[in-house]
Amino acid sequence: MTDLTPITFAETDIDRIAGHSGRIAVFLEPEGRLDAGARRVNRLTKGALQRLVESERFAALKPGDVFSMGYPAGMAAEAVDVVHMPRRAEVMTARKAGAALAKRRGDSDLLMLAAATRRVADVAFGLAMRDYGFEDHKSAPKARKGTVEVMCSKPDDAREAAAPLMAVAEGAFMTRDLTNAPANILTTTNFAERLAEMESLGLKVEVLDEEELATLGMRTLLSVGQGSDSPSKVVVMRWEGGADDSAPLALVGKGVVFDTGGISLKPGAGMEDMTMDMGGAGVVSGVMRTLALRKAKANVVGLVGIVENMPSGNATRPGDVITTMKGDTVEVINTDAEGRLVLCDVMWYAQDRFKPAAMIDLATLTGAIIIGLGHENAGVFSNDDGLCNDFLKAAESEGEGAWRMPLGQGYDDLLKSRVADMKNIGGRPAGSITAAQFLKRFVKDETPWIHLDIAGVASLKSESTLAPAGATGWGVAALNRLVADRFEKG
Ligand code: BES
Ligand code: MN
Ligand code: ZN
Repeated sequence: MTDLTPITFAETDIDRIAGHSGRIAVFLEPEGRLDAGARRVNRLTKGALQRLVESERFAALKPGDVFSMGYPAGMAAEAVDVVHMPRRAEVMTARKAGAALAKRRGDSDLLMLAAATRRVADVAFGLAMRDYGFEDHKSAPKARKGTVEVMCSKPDDAREAAAPLMAVAEGAFMTRDLTNAPANILTTTNFAERLAEMESLGLKVEVLDEEELATLGMRTLLSVGQGSDSPSKVVVMRWEGGADDSAPLALVGKGVVFDTGGISLKPGAGMEDMTMDMGGAGVVSGVMRTLALRKAKANVVGLVGIVENMPSGNATRPGDVITTMKGDTVEVINTDAEGRLVLCDVMWYAQDRFKPAAMIDLATLTGAIIIGLGHENAGVFSNDDGLCNDFLKAAESEGEGAWRMPLGQGYDDLLKSRVADMKNIGGRPAGSITAAQFLKRFVKDETPWIHLDIAGVASLKSESTLAPAGATGWGVAALNRLVADRFEKG
């Protein structure tokens, strides 16, 4: 598991500035005066900081941007990173600034002169999130060295404010590690083992094997994995942090460790990207880790369906009819529409067993959501406006793009089958919506539900504000916030 960069908080000691040999960050308000630390840097550099502040270059910086002055005369530092930080900086500005500092840091020791800068904890969070590299399979991994220290006026407060945010970063790192992992390493068995290890954090983890899944009647899920030599699994992770035994929030994740398409084989080009097809299960796992680490006062259960979609002599064929755990029959038109076949049984099981207060499923479900929303927003589908609006608000405040999409009878009608209760695809038009309609057939009327199609946001080809290229960890922060705001009150 990729470790977070440790960040320490201490009282300001301006006498350490001149001799610090790594990088030094100062925070400047656009029109404000230099604080004590910045004044010291300015004096040591014979006014260089003041000249920067008065320059057009500084005026052109946007909130959260960083300008670096290399090897400043009068100081031992390799660079002074000057952060443009308005007095009333938004949360995302502070995180962006932290991420910018992380990108510049490399292996150097970073000393931040945060003084009374607001939102130091969010600067630290942004830094921690961006200081990620997936090096599990590099034969010569870059030693991630260097220390990060924040000098500020109230270090105890900052440390306390940062702790729950670091739990979010830990969860997001787990999501990224899982989502980045290749399928020959992250096999179904290995995935379940990694989740079982979270028992040490106080989670109750159960791994259901194929025999137990068959007994439960999860035939549709098993039909997806039956072409693979790797055994299908369902892992149940329970966090019982609520004071009472109130109904939990259920999080359900699609965990297809590799999606070849099955007999409806995908084209070769880009197929390697399907190592991330367990991204939904990765987010569920990361959120459970975060909730355990910060000891959330809520009852949350995470369920992931872990399978591999392979073609073989034993694989499900197009035209096969499968009976779901619910009892409805599905005509499999396309074996590449496998995610919904996994989720329908796990969602049914989640409601059957836990009677959840709400259920949220996450899945890299459709290519169509990428056509609709690109890589900026996940698709959000819901049968409950209150829950949905709370989630959209949580996602917005965490800077994670999310956009609501419609549901409706007309879309559901596209799933009609001649031979079974439904087909597993609805055709090209509105592909993400018909996928959501399929799932909705497995949501009980009384269950408030959100489906998140994260195919476009789980992993990116280029870097984003808080993540390098690859898995993003999208959703861990938003779902953690939703739990905090909606399920931990009272
Ligand atoms: N895992 C894919 C969806 C996907 C595509 C995720 C691109 C990430 C990036 C899913 O199982 C799939 O193959 N969906 C098909 C559905 C179709 C057969 C109805 C798709 O989107 O093409
Ligand atoms: Mn598929
Ligand atoms: Zn898939």
